[in-house]
Amino acid sequence: MCGIVGYIGTKEAYPILIKGLKRLEYRGYDSAGVAVFNGKINLYKHKGKIKELEKFVSAKDIGGTLGIGHTRWATHGEPNDTNAHPHRSMNDLFTLVHNGIIENYADLKKDLIKQGYKFNSDTDTEILVNLVEFFYTREDDIDAETAVRMALTKVVGAYGIAVLCSEEPGTLIAARKGSPLVIGIGSNEYFVASDAAPIVEYTNNVVYMNDYDVAVIKNNKFTLKNLQNNPMSLTIEQLDLNIGELDKGGFDHFMLKEIFEQPKTIEDTFRGRLNPAKSEIVLGGLLDVMPKLAAAERLIIISCGTSWHAGLIGEYLIEEYAKIPVEVEYASEFRYRKPVIRKGDIVLAISQSGETADTLAAVEMAKDAGATILGICNVTGSTLSRVTEAGVYTHAGAEIGVASTKAFSAQVTVLIMLALKLAYVKGEISDKDYKDLIEELAAIPEKLKTILDNNDHIRSIAEKYKDSVNALYLGRGYLFPVALEGALKLKEISYIHAEGYPAGEMKHGPIALIDNNLPVIVVAPQDDYYEKILSNIREVKARRGNVITIVTEGDEKLKELSDDVITIPRSHPVMTPLLTVIPLQLFSYHTALMRGCNVDQPRNLAKSVTVE
Ligand code: M6R
Repeated sequence: MCGIVGYIGTKEAYPILIKGLKRLEYRGYDSAGVAVFNGKINLYKHKGKIKELEKFVSAKDIGGTLGIGHTRWATHGEPNDTNAHPHRSMNDLFTLVHNGIIENYADLKKDLIKQGYKFNSDTDTEILVNLVEFFYTREDDIDAETAVRMALTKVVGAYGIAVLCSEEPGTLIAARKGSPLVIGIGSNEYFVASDAAPIVEYTNNVVYMNDYDVAVIKNNKFTLKNLQNNPMSLTIEQLDLNIGELDKGGFDHFMLKEIFEQPKTIEDTFRGRLNPAKSEIVLGGLLDVMPKLAAAERLIIISCGTSWHAGLIGEYLIEEYAKIPVEVEYASEFRYRKPVIRKGDIVLAISQSGETADTLAAVEMAKDAGATILGICNVTGSTLSRVTEAGVYTHAGAEIGVASTKAFSAQVTVLIMLALKLAYVKGEISDKDYKDLIEELAAIPEKLKTILDNNDHIRSIAEKYKDSVNALYLGRGYLFPVALEGALKLKEISYIHAEGYPAGEMKHGPIALIDNNLPVIVVAPQDDYYEKILSNIREVKARRGNVITIVTEGDEKLKELSDDVITIPRSHPVMTPLLTVIPLQLFSYHTALMRGCNVDQPRNLAKSVTVE
């Protein structure tokens, strides 16, 4: 995925574009560019981060009140100056930024070459901008928006685009299919962006574009049409985003800030939903579908990455408490593997961004097969939140660090509430257990604070193992997905190869890896699996592995057996994923930092994967 920003109004566009790109940099950061209209369209682009672009642009003509900008995560062609966006058409008539993938680019390119078009870059975007120009120059009396619509009818694939035409100095055009775009409406000014982050400091009034919408802002008038030029109705919504969430708030990195925010995140997630005084859980977004959900014969959870790990915890919780069979699927597999989906099935999609391409495609497929689609999502107004029948927002606030941290905790919090509520509605849990678990969940934010107080201790453990080449994470029950999540965090930001395993599986293969160079991180609080995991740890020690354990406070036995220990407060097993994931996040953060890695913007990654 990449970031798009555009501005048309009365202010200077360039500072708004640059600030907007910085806010979007978490979406992609291998190259960036801007195009600003000042008599002609001035175009500047550069490999690397936004600050490289700023250096490159300094002392150049950046005047003008209309412009577009882009920060890139490469799909077609390596990250370099030429492949960076915006792209300009051969005769300089159009300049365009694009998110997504044009799948039939090769055929379109062949046709354009026959018409005499030449190409400089390796991108599919350069083909699109020339296709727009081709229609514009081929027809008489055609305006820019018509040429854009004509070109888009030929495109197979996904796009979010913003377009300038050098013959229309008062026009900004945007269009969407599969790649999110939002229009901000200010006073005599308009913004276009791939998410609300660049817009929120100027206006709260936004229109979320739907697939096949074309937005045209022309001579200070905003219209929304479809590809056939029919007007579409405008729904102006209010942004649910606090500008403070977009800053580091005194922390060195967004990731660290987001790790430390988790006590508050969890409180925000259960606020108004969890009521210990009345022993009540109310999930407003699911009220209408609760009877259907409680009667479901099975539930299918689909998601990717960290959200998939949260989904696995959901499976264990819902099966144990609500007694509903659950399957957890990688969206990227589910959408292609021809699964059996029956009419009464309920599909629960989990996504922080609500824009993950595989998750959205899997949702569409399940919808077509007649399933009821529910969502757990963080970003208000995201595509997922608009295509689901009902759902729960996690209210984790903006998550900017590419490695997901607080969004995971918020998802798990929702899944705990969902499992307990379903169990209660179905009469599968006693009043006492229900009450006790509600109280346990309400107490979690305070317990998390005590774990965060161990930050220095966790940093010292990271110091010891920072030069490792591999790491193994083990857990059982609810903590097996936590082991997976710990391993994912370490590999994505420190580039150390890490594997997460159910501890019981260790002897079926991974045990071969163990020697005195391998750190084995075992999530081992005192729960039903304690004795089992103790023997796994003994097996690791017998092979001279280095054992780092996450244990319940006061556990002397494991302290003795381990090389390094991190303690968590005592809690009910259901809550342990929320407690144990924090040390793993901090361990990854410190390890990555000591290895000189960019923790907020790890190499090759982007915050949400809006392409396949
Ligand atoms: O926005 P989503 O939750 O749908 O994103 C899913 C994954 O792409 C995401 O969790 C990814 O694995 C993160 N880099 C994990 O830190």
